[in-house]
Amino acid sequence: MLVLGVESSCDETGVALYDSAHGPSSSLRTGLLAHALYSQIAMHNDYGGVVPELASRDHIRRVLPLTRQVLAESGRTLADIDGIAYTQGPGLAGALLVGAGMARALAFALNIPAVGVHHLEGHMLSPLISDTPPEFPFVALLVSGGHTQLMLVSGVGRYTLLGETLDDAAGEAFDKTAQLLGLGYPGGPALSKLAATGDASRFTLPRPMLNSGDFDFSFSGLKTAVLTLVRKQGLEQAADIAAAFQAAAVEVLVRKSLAACAHSSATRLVVAGGVGANTHLRERLTREAAARGISVFYPRLEFCTDNGAMIAYAGAQRLAHAQGGDLTFAVKPRWELATLDAV
Ligand code: KG4
Ligand code: ZN
Repeated sequence: MLVLGVESSCDETGVALYDSAHGPSSSLRTGLLAHALYSQIAMHNDYGGVVPELASRDHIRRVLPLTRQVLAESGRTLADIDGIAYTQGPGLAGALLVGAGMARALAFALNIPAVGVHHLEGHMLSPLISDTPPEFPFVALLVSGGHTQLMLVSGVGRYTLLGETLDDAAGEAFDKTAQLLGLGYPGGPALSKLAATGDASRFTLPRPMLNSGDFDFSFSGLKTAVLTLVRKQGLEQAADIAAAFQAAAVEVLVRKSLAACAHSSATRLVVAGGVGANTHLRERLTREAAARGISVFYPRLEFCTDNGAMIAYAGAQRLAHAQGGDLTFAVKPRWELATLDAV
């Protein structure tokens, strides 16, 4: 089944073509035929964050050229597509409507099914687009700009929430801290680059909720601690402060993820979402998990942040079970992952 995936929930337009008929015997190991991405980051950088109206308008400009591009790159035509998956939520309502409207209209014109995909399900299943995908069950650490959650995943759509952030998301904490340190938007990659040049042991920042005995997180206090430190030390110490922040945030993420695995007797941990691109997190998690007999699975680096491939993949799982198809549609700017239907 050839599935076109369309992502437009925030500041990246992603389109991909995924073929579910693949496997070891096929020349297509992962099933991903082509993917294309346009990032609006430069446009929003002037404003220090995403401007929803500008995001929607830019998605309109990009979505069809990107679709033509993935079709051309994979040597396929519209007539070859069997189904269309689009991000239905959570995200910015106007931005979501662009992808949903385009996907539904195209599916209607081609007389094929379309399915709305949960953005975080896309992230969470993205490590499965691999030659060596993890088997179910696994624990998933979802760390994006808007969400920080630990989930027990026993199948597609079988998600149990173990814990989540009570305030800021991990990516949001990276972004806000980066802003305090005078770095651009989104701050995660810039902060992590600066942290690599700093001394993480010079300042000690709090590890919020490290010993709370549950799988919840809190990052807003950490951001306040950084603000206090910046006021006291000045921006000349930015590299050491960045390193201290990253060490604190990563330690909490690593310890809670491993505790969630122990609690669920899981031997596989999947990390997904933009913060999953963080090198320090990857190094520490892989090392400490290995010491406990836990294997860690990451998406390809380019699929940590928003992309169309993860939406095509998650949509293909649902379309294969005949989900999707009716012609009405509504986007869901707010949507709980644990309420999804199992396939
Ligand atoms: O998953 P994503 O692309 O978008 C959402 O669905 O939110 O995640 C974006 C977030 C941003 O907050 C960004 O700063 C963060 O991921 N991020 C990073 C890194 N790369 C992206 N945070 C820390 N280290 C990185 N290398
Ligand atoms: Zn995302």
